[in-house]
Amino acid sequence: MIIVINMVGRLFLRRNQGHMAPNYICNEGTMTSSWHKHFYFLLFLLFSSSLFAQPSVDAGKTLFRNVCAQCHAKDMKTKATGPALGGLQERWADYPREDLYAWVRNSANMINVVKHPRAVELWDEWKPAVMQSFTLTDEEIESLFLYVDDQLIPKETGTPGAPVTSADNSGQYNWLYWILFLILGALALILMRIIGSLDKMVATKDGEVYEEKPFLKRVFTKRVVSFLIFGLIVIAGYNTVTNAINFGRQQGYAPEQPIKFSHETHAGVNKIECQYCHDGARRSKHSVIPAANTCMNCHSAIQIGSEYGTAELTKIYASIGYDPNSGQYIDNYTSLDESEIKAIYTKWITDTYLDEAGLEDLDKKGSRIVEAQWTGIKESLTNEQKKQIPGPIEWTRVHNLPDHVYFSHEQHVTVGQVECQSCHGKVEAMETMVQDAPLSMGWCINCHRQTEVKFEGNEYYASYEAYHAQLATGEKEKITVEDIGGLECQKCHY
Ligand code: HEC
Ligand code: HEC
Ligand code: HEC
Ligand code: HEC
Ligand code: HEC
Ligand code: HEC
Repeated sequence: MIIVINMVGRLFLRRNQGHMAPNYICNEGTMTSSWHKHFYFLLFLLFSSSLFAQPSVDAGKTLFRNVCAQCHAKDMKTKATGPALGGLQERWADYPREDLYAWVRNSANMINVVKHPRAVELWDEWKPAVMQSFTLTDEEIESLFLYVDDQLIPKETGTPGAPVTSADNSGQYNWLYWILFLILGALALILMRIIGSLDKMVATKDGEVYEEKPFLKRVFTKRVVSFLIFGLIVIAGYNTVTNAINFGRQQGYAPEQPIKFSHETHAGVNKIECQYCHDGARRSKHSVIPAANTCMNCHSAIQIGSEYGTAELTKIYASIGYDPNSGQYIDNYTSLDESEIKAIYTKWITDTYLDEAGLEDLDKKGSRIVEAQWTGIKESLTNEQKKQIPGPIEWTRVHNLPDHVYFSHEQHVTVGQVECQSCHGKVEAMETMVQDAPLSMGWCINCHRQTEVKFEGNEYYASYEAYHAQLATGEKEKITVEDIGGLECQKCHY
């Protein structure tokens, strides 16, 4: 494409040179070439935007898996936490496409603020389940929809009368690109020939000997080369910037933890209060991960789990030196060496196994199980730095704001009375902890714009007398976090 434009530009120059009086050549020449540059730029913009922004089934698939699959079934036909997405475009067909984008980006806004008819209908059917907001571009959303449609298409190929899949569609687009590429290539060759013969004509007319330039030299003129470099720099810059912005952001992040601790088992099935374990949330900046002692409040009694038996719970004991054989904490635990520690816990695992299997001595299977469990315990309590057991349980951090942001749990949980779930999602249904929210600046700001401050009976707000008065006289209908300064940069940034 670039080469073709270059050729056309050169053709222009030649023509002008041929027809103008010599003293105009210079002016005309620069004029044409500056026109030529602008044209390049426009073309580049057009071309690059189409390069960056092609919705595709594959992109949709990745996105869906990362951020939507948590709540929407992958087959697009069954209901999960959220509705089956199949046929969603038909359901939104009465409204502009932008409404559907707006829904995906911020469904709460569409329900509560815009009061969009389809959004309200959805809410009535699905409340209290809420869909979180997403920072996605139009193209990303289109990719998601392509994937939704694609999932509904039967995958057998060769079925007569099978509908054309959107995957085939994108294939067709690829073909179009290739055809375009070939046509442009041919055009470039033809133009090159014309220019060549024009040059030759001019040269012979002036009585000079015409020297034919080698092919590559004619194609990769200075202008084309500098333009290609410029293009590469722009693309590289674009990628660096988007990567930098997304760096550290990890919505959907769900690392494997050293112990298979399940919030579903504890906060869901057994209904243990969040703050029983995360008691920092109420009174400090950090919520704090509970120490092993907190676990022991229950697990000194519950020693064998129904799911993993001794495999997971023994890790707690081995980390703090509790001997489940005797029900006592071990004296001088940290001064024991690894073989002594191993002896204590493999005895516990062995005895439990023999008990359950009704055996006197370890069989082959039993020895394998004991060895495997011990390896699991050792690996989860040691790491690169600390190769020796005993070691603390090193939970992998899931949520992490950059250092320049100030965030306080106390402010939100105690003062603002915000539910943990508004920010962390349905933790009580999580087998593995996953970061539910994007934790982006837009996410904080959106909530501050929309959330009403809970004034009533809240001692922390006693000082906002002016607002109380305005609420009383009806001058203001509601006070949001924004009104009390929740959008001021220095409140969130150090
Ligand atoms: C935390 C769970 C959750 C996640 C994650 C989620 N959704 Fe939803 N979604 C819902 C719920 C619940 C509803 C039903 C409306 C409501 O109660 O808010 C819904 C409704 C929808 C609808 C409306 C469907 C219709 O029939 O009109 C669309 C479209 C949608 N979601 C798309 C998405 C996309 C795209 C993603 C990923 C970017 C996504 N959702 C991620 C929970 C979720
Ligand atoms: C029995 C104790 C216990 C209870 C009850 C509990 N948690 Fe946790 N929580 C943990 C442990 C242990 C971890 C670290 C392991 C993990 O991430 O799964 C954790 C991790 C978390 C994290 C992720 C921390 C990070 O690394 O970013 C969040 C968020 C969280 N809990 C929220 C909650 C909420 C909300 C509830 C109530 C619905 C709750 N927890 C109930 C023990 C508990
Ligand atoms: C207003 C949103 C919000 C609410 C409400 C909220 N959290 Fe958090 N939580 C966050 C953010 C943001 C982080 C990351 C903090 C950081 O990196 O400094 C976080 C981190 C955590 C962590 C990791 C350890 C830490 O403190 O950094 C745990 C555990 C946690 N939250 C539990 C809870 C529990 C339990 C509740 C309810 C009692 C709760 N959160 C309520 C937003 C919230
Ligand atoms: C308030 C009581 C309580 C506390 C505190 C508690 N748990 Fe539990 N835990 C339970 C109950 C009840 C079960 C379910 C037991 C079962 O399924 O047999 C359980 C199950 C487990 C299991 C699954 C065991 C299996 O094999 O099925 C693990 C792992 C676990 N807890 C780890 C922890 C950790 C780590 C902590 C500390 C951060 C902790 N628990 C704190 C009550 C508690
Ligand atoms: C679910 C809604 C919600 C989200 C998400 C949220 N906040 Fe808040 N935030 C509130 C509420 C409600 C208050 C009011 C509490 C108060 O009066 O101090 C508040 C207050 C604050 C304040 C004190 C403002 C003031 O004027 O005193 C700060 C600072 C703050 N939030 C930071 C953050 C940061 C940083 C994030 C994102 C990481 C965030 N918040 C995300 C709801 C939210
Ligand atoms: C309610 C809290 C909040 C307020 C108010 C706020 N920010 Fe932020 N800001 C954040 C959070 C959270 C991040 C981290 C986002 C991330 O990691 O992607 C951030 C990131 C940034 C960044 C880094 C770029 C980026 O996207 O990561 C800049 C620059 C910034 N904020 C500037 C500002 C300015 C200027 C203001 C005032 C107009 C402001 N912020 C107000 C919460 C806030």
